Amino acid sequence: MNAFNQAQGTTALACRALTCIIKGQALLQDVSLGVIPGETLGIVGPNGSGKSTLLRLLAGLQAPASGELWLDGLPLASLNRRDVAQRLALVEQQAETADAISVRDAVELGRTPWLSALAPWSSEDQRIVQQALADVDLLHLSERRWQTLSGGERQRAHIARALAQQARILLLDEPTNHLDIQHQLNILGLVKALPVTSVIALHDLNQALQCDRLAVLHQGRLVALGAPETVLTPERLQAVFGVQARWLSDPLDGTRFLRLTPL
Ligand SMILES: Nc1ncnc2c1ncn2[C@@H]1O[C@H](COP(=O)(O)OP(=O)(O)O)[C@@H](O)[C@H]1O
Ligand SMILES: [Mg+2]
Repeated sequence: MNAFNQAQGTTALACRALTCIIKGQALLQDVSLGVIPGETLGIVGPNGSGKSTLLRLLAGLQAPASGELWLDGLPLASLNRRDVAQRLALVEQQAETADAISVRDAVELGRTPWLSALAPWSSEDQRIVQQALADVDLLHLSERRWQTLSGGERQRAHIARALAQQARILLLDEPTNHLDIQHQLNILGLVKALPVTSVIALHDLNQALQCDRLAVLHQGRLVALGAPETVLTPERLQAVFGVQARWLSDPLDGTRFLRLTPL
C-alpha cells in the first residue's frame, strides 16, 4: 500500500508529493510517506537534506509549495492550531523559550491546547506536568530559571513540554543533540516506550537502528523508506552520506550495528 492510499484514515500522519521551495531552491521535492500509528519513524540524511523542513511541514508550521498533508486521516489544512496541537507536538532543533520563566513554567506551556474557560488549570494538569518533568529526569531542576540551564537540560525541558502536551504524535528534531550519552539513550528509550506515534530526525545511524522504520532523505528527496537494516545498505550509505559502512554483530548477543569509516 503506498503512502497516498494509507493517508485516508489508516495513518497517523501522511504526505503526498510534498515540495517546499524557498528563494527558488527546492528544500524538499516530491516527498510521499505515511506514518503508521504507534510506530517510531526515524528520519536520517546529511546536513541540509531537508529533515527539519519535512518535520516543520508535517507539523503544519510551514506551508508546502505543493503537495498534500493529512493528520489522523484529516487534511492538515482543515485543522486549526489548537486541533493540531492536541494531536501533535513538535520539538524543534533550535527551540527557543522566553528567558524569564522557570523550567516548570516552560513545561506548563505544554498544557495550553487543553485549557479553556470551561477547562481551567486543574490538579490533573499539575500531575501531568510533574510526570513529564520526571520522565526526562528534570524534577530536581523544575524551579530553576530557564536561562541557567545547559543546552542538554533545555533540550530535555523542551521534550518535557511536548510530553505535557499529551499529543499522540511526537515530532522530534534531533532530540539527542546536546545530550550526554546516558540522557541520549534514556530519551530514545523513553520515546520508544511511550504509547505514541513518533517521527524523529536523528544523526547517529546506530541510534537510528532502534526505530521501527527509517526514511532516508538526500538533497530534499526521499530515497528510501523501510526497516533500518533494509534501507541502510553500504551502497546507500556511501551514496547519501559519503562514508564506508560495514554491518557488524556484537559477539555476545548478536545485535547488529554499523561501523562507519571515511571513504
Ligand atoms: N528559511 C530558509 N531559507 C533558505 N534556505 C533554507 C531555509 N531553511 C532551510 N534552508 C536550507 O534548506 C536546506 C534543508 O534544510 P534543513 O531542512 O534544515 O535540513 P536538515 O535538517 O536535514 O539539516 C538546507 O540547505 C538549508 O540551508
Ligand atoms: Mg535539521
